[in-house]
Amino acid sequence: MRILAIESSCDESAAAVLDRTRGLLAHELFSQVDLHRIYGGVVPELASRDHVRRLLPLVRSALEKANTRPEDLHGVAYTAGPGLIGALLTGAALARSLAYAWGVPAIGVHHLEGHLLAPLLEPDPPPFPHVALLVSGGHTMLIEVQGIGRYELLGETRDDAAGEAFDKTAKLLGLPYPGGPQLAALAERGRAGAFEFPRPMLDRPGLEFSFSGLKTAVAQAVRGRELTDALKADVAYAVQEAIVETLTVKALRALEQTGLDVLVVSGGVSANRTLRGRLTDAVSAYGGRVYYPRIEFCTDNAAMIAVAGLARLAAGQHDPLAIRALARWPLESLTPIAV
Ligand code: KG4
Ligand code: ZN
Repeated sequence: MRILAIESSCDESAAAVLDRTRGLLAHELFSQVDLHRIYGGVVPELASRDHVRRLLPLVRSALEKANTRPEDLHGVAYTAGPGLIGALLTGAALARSLAYAWGVPAIGVHHLEGHLLAPLLEPDPPPFPHVALLVSGGHTMLIEVQGIGRYELLGETRDDAAGEAFDKTAKLLGLPYPGGPQLAALAERGRAGAFEFPRPMLDRPGLEFSFSGLKTAVAQAVRGRELTDALKADVAYAVQEAIVETLTVKALRALEQTGLDVLVVSGGVSANRTLRGRLTDAVSAYGGRVYYPRIEFCTDNAAMIAVAGLARLAAGQHDPLAIRALARWPLESLTPIAV
């Protein structure tokens, strides 16, 4: 069984071809960051228009690189939500139309299920059940994953997501959008102890997060001061420490609470090397194992949509002829499938 997958939920246009026995055959991606940078964030209408321009050439190129003709495909998967509705609609309409033209089923995939299953593309995939720490630009969640489609939310953020906290504090330091990776790079040169930012909810029991206070703390720390490179690096270091420590402590707490010893970390922020190092150390000290997607599959991509889509198509699921796009879509409403 071989499928094409399309991702267009935010500012990344992507296409991938995945084969059940031969694995990932191709994955193509165009990032719109240059388009949105001057606005300091994603402009939904510009994102949709650019997806319209980029998606079909990416699909052609993925099929070519995968040496795959339409008649070799058994289905088309696409991100049906959650995300920017206009952006979702571009990928959904294209995927649904291609599937109709090629006479194969289409399946609308949950973007977060894609992130959760991205580590299954690696040579040593995580076993089920496990605890997942999903940290992206829009979400910060701890989830008990019993199997594909069996997700129980253990805790999430009450306000900003971890990626959002990286991006917003980066903006306060004058770093260009998207600030997360840039803030992480700057933190490498920061000094420990120069600043200390709050670790919200750390002293409280439970698995909830709150990151919105970090922006205020950073704004106060830099107010009236010249933003020299050294100052920015020190602030970046302290911001990253506050986020990484909070995520690490809560992820460990989730393992203890569930009695599980496998942690999966995914979503854009899982590309953060300090977070990866800290979690690896903490989980191995605990006697467990931690799994990540490869760096390029931490942020949005179509390969992860292909993994989720293939699992569902192989289990006999598919969508009717309607084009499905959902700005909001609870992860817990997904249908479980046997692994
Ligand atoms: O998963 P993703 O590509 O998109 C969403 O579904 O949200 O995540 C993007 C987020 C952004 O907030 C970005 O700043 C953050 O992931 N991010 C990072 C790093 N790479 C991406 N944050 C910290 N360190 C990184 N290395
Ligand atoms: Zn994402």
